[in-house]
Amino acid sequence: MAETVLSDVDGENGRLTVAGYPIEALAPTATFEQTAFLLWNGRLPDSAEEIALRQRLASLRPLNALSLDLVRNAARAKAPVIDSVRMVVAALPTQGNDASDAHAVVAAIPTIVAAHQRVADGEEAIEPRSDLGHAANFLYMLRGTAPSAAEARALETYLNTVIDHGLNASTFVARAIASTGSDLVSCLAGAVGALKGPLHGGAPGPALDMVIEIGQVENAETHMRALLTRGERLMGFGHRVYRTRDPRADVLAAAAERLYASGVDRSLYDLATGVEAVALRLLEEHKPGRSLRTNVEFYTALLLHGLGLPTALFTPTFAVARSVGWAAHVMEQRQSARVIRPQSRYVGPRGLSIP
Ligand code: ACO
Repeated sequence: MAETVLSDVDGENGRLTVAGYPIEALAPTATFEQTAFLLWNGRLPDSAEEIALRQRLASLRPLNALSLDLVRNAARAKAPVIDSVRMVVAALPTQGNDASDAHAVVAAIPTIVAAHQRVADGEEAIEPRSDLGHAANFLYMLRGTAPSAAEARALETYLNTVIDHGLNASTFVARAIASTGSDLVSCLAGAVGALKGPLHGGAPGPALDMVIEIGQVENAETHMRALLTRGERLMGFGHRVYRTRDPRADVLAAAAERLYASGVDRSLYDLATGVEAVALRLLEEHKPGRSLRTNVEFYTALLLHGLGLPTALFTPTFAVARSVGWAAHVMEQRQSARVIRPQSRYVGPRGLSIP
């Protein structure tokens, strides 16, 4: 059992604590830079410290020519966006200390993601702006215009909500690499590889696809009953750890509601909330007492869709947030001198002889 002061996932009671703060209190109010500082330093910053971190990350946003070439080539070859993140993070030079490496990787990821998407869309990458916060600048680099305050807040709430989540697969990978004494850039490059897998970072796309396929609330019951009868799962519901409602779903549902109330086209949102109500009823019938509830992926999909992000950007945007948590875990892992080395049990044959 690993010990951490970074986040606590209480699956029985549906609670998530990040560095002492309930996610419901932290995510909708803190800036992304405040939450990053919290995870890296164990306390919230004062305003001078927050400004210093914000300026430091902003100064590290531009990619060098080599990195931009990697991104352009990957985008033109129609590689997934997360492959650009994996390649460019791995190509970043290590600065020789964890804090500097953490700043460099976290600052670069939004630029990589936005540049890849722009080139894939046949457009030129947009230079980052240093006067915008991390979340607002990411949207600016994707669109070429600064987002509204409501949009920037919505993205910031999402990033804070998924910034850390216990010892999930990618975080475990980062810690395992850190335990060998390797540098933080290598740890985060490995973590990106783990996040890419569909069983970890890749579920919000399918949740949105299901809602779009249903098309109208009136079709929801027939469509989802057919899925359940075929033994298929309803995407965006259920969780391996949470045995009650995923607390992140509530935070993101409230953020999505605020975003859609700010004037964004809400037709898909209204459809999705109608589909959710029917899904919860059918799942209670399907597995009585199991409490299969809406998970984080359902409202992630709605929130990111409302911000105009295509589904191809959902997993890379998850990496924008989670890179902070990975870096915090690497720094925490440094306090132990032990290499992480799970035991394996040999179940193969023995004593074979060479013919
Ligand atoms: N739709 C229909 N049935 C479901 C669903 C669902 N979404 N989730 C669980 N069940 C069923 C299971 O098939 C299982 O049935 P069984 O007892 O007949 O085998 C029963 O409910 C209990 O399953 P659990 O043990 O609670 O679920 P498990 O831990 O195996 O799976 C998982 C969790 C993978 C998230 C599952 O709920 C699922 O596939 N959900 C849909 C995909 C999804 O939304 N994934 C994103 C999760 S969030 C995240 O990973 C960050």
